[in-house]
Amino acid sequence: MNTRVLTGITTTGTPHLGNYAGAIRPAVRASTQPGADAFFFMADYHALIKCDDPARVARSRLEIAATWLAAGLDPDRVTFYRQSDIPEIPELCWMLSCVTAKGLMNRAHAYKASVDQNVAKGVDPDDGVTMGLFSYPVLMAADILLFNANKVPVGRDQIQHLEMARDIAQRFNHLYGRDFFTLPDVSIEDDVATLPGLDGRKMSKSYNNTIPLFEGGSKAMRAAIMRIVTDSREPGEPKDAENSHLYTIYRAFASAEQAAAFRRQLEEGMGWGDAKNALYEHLEALVAPMRDRYVELMADPARIEDILQAGAAKARKLATPLMRELREAVGLRNISAAPAAPRAGKKEKAKGARFVSFRETDGSFRFRLLAADGEELLLSGRHADPKAAGVALRRLQTEAADLRAGEDGTVAAYLDGSAAASMAVADAEAHLEKIRAALASLAEE
Ligand code: TRP
Repeated sequence: MNTRVLTGITTTGTPHLGNYAGAIRPAVRASTQPGADAFFFMADYHALIKCDDPARVARSRLEIAATWLAAGLDPDRVTFYRQSDIPEIPELCWMLSCVTAKGLMNRAHAYKASVDQNVAKGVDPDDGVTMGLFSYPVLMAADILLFNANKVPVGRDQIQHLEMARDIAQRFNHLYGRDFFTLPDVSIEDDVATLPGLDGRKMSKSYNNTIPLFEGGSKAMRAAIMRIVTDSREPGEPKDAENSHLYTIYRAFASAEQAAAFRRQLEEGMGWGDAKNALYEHLEALVAPMRDRYVELMADPARIEDILQAGAAKARKLATPLMRELREAVGLRNISAAPAAPRAGKKEKAKGARFVSFRETDGSFRFRLLAADGEELLLSGRHADPKAAGVALRRLQTEAADLRAGEDGTVAAYLDGSAAASMAVADAEAHLEKIRAALASLAEE
């Protein structure tokens, strides 16, 4: 089975060389691997949380789309779209909001950081905090869950958001009794370069220390490279390559041999001016062909719009049927159909008795046995890991479970002499009958 990889790019800025090395290049590379099923999208609804300048949002969407395409993203191979072209995303976001504990959102780092700053300043804790910022992780969960992504490559600052997406998915699956959503795994690529900026701190727009990727052409790139901070060693003096960010930047774009040669030259006394020229030449050879494509694309926004519209159509082919299922599941149904009437046709089969696994807030794993009509028949004990829960679940399903009614009105299914799952009920005999029927129908499947 293919692994679906999905990631979003917030459209507030212009991509720089650090974005290219840290996100664009690894993503484009991964998307060309055999078996890759990649979804890349522009998180332009997320952009509205941070930015109320319409021109900047509009410009950034165009630049980011053109950059990714110029960097080699093949829209026929991957699904490349804009978040705001998928109405199912905000629709799902609302459904998820309705099952998400506010307390969970209170713990989000970004929100907490704003509150802490406000408290430190002595103003209202929620000063300047919008509902968009507060609910940011729910929208992100909708982005991910709508497409049942398996792997989500993100920066470390996003790990908590992925954990929240898993929590929200589990809660929804549990409440509505079926595994509608795949639980996404975060993927942090450790060998991906975090590029230092001109001053040696992480390359970032907010530090104003970036090297532009395409904007401003080769001139702007060169000018930035010339501003890289170095130590004061003169030409002829050996340089400490390992501790110079100039070398770190070079290495991020070079083969092992090229990097070793550059390092040797520095250690043998190459002047910083010459080193900067060498870095520029090296980067320019790599960037120039992409920049040409970028300039071409930027001159033809209608073509980019077409590509994105086609991407949205591709994405919605998956989103629309899932959303239809979810609306049905939560009770937003066509009222002209008789309330309990089964839907005609092949869907039927999915409606038998079933086991449903879920995760407790304390982190333990449990499962329930549900009857065909959704009635809860048994609730398992807590298991430390999903494997152990899975083993018990499978044994209950496949082995003749030892069913007993206790005197206190509980019924339980025993495995190896201890209760694997139980339930407090009013009429034990009738309930045991239902459990037997459910287990028998599962055995038939
Ligand atoms: N929050 C992410 C960031 O700032 C962007 C994003 C939005 C995203 N939705 C997503 C990333 C879904 C991965 C999956 O980097």
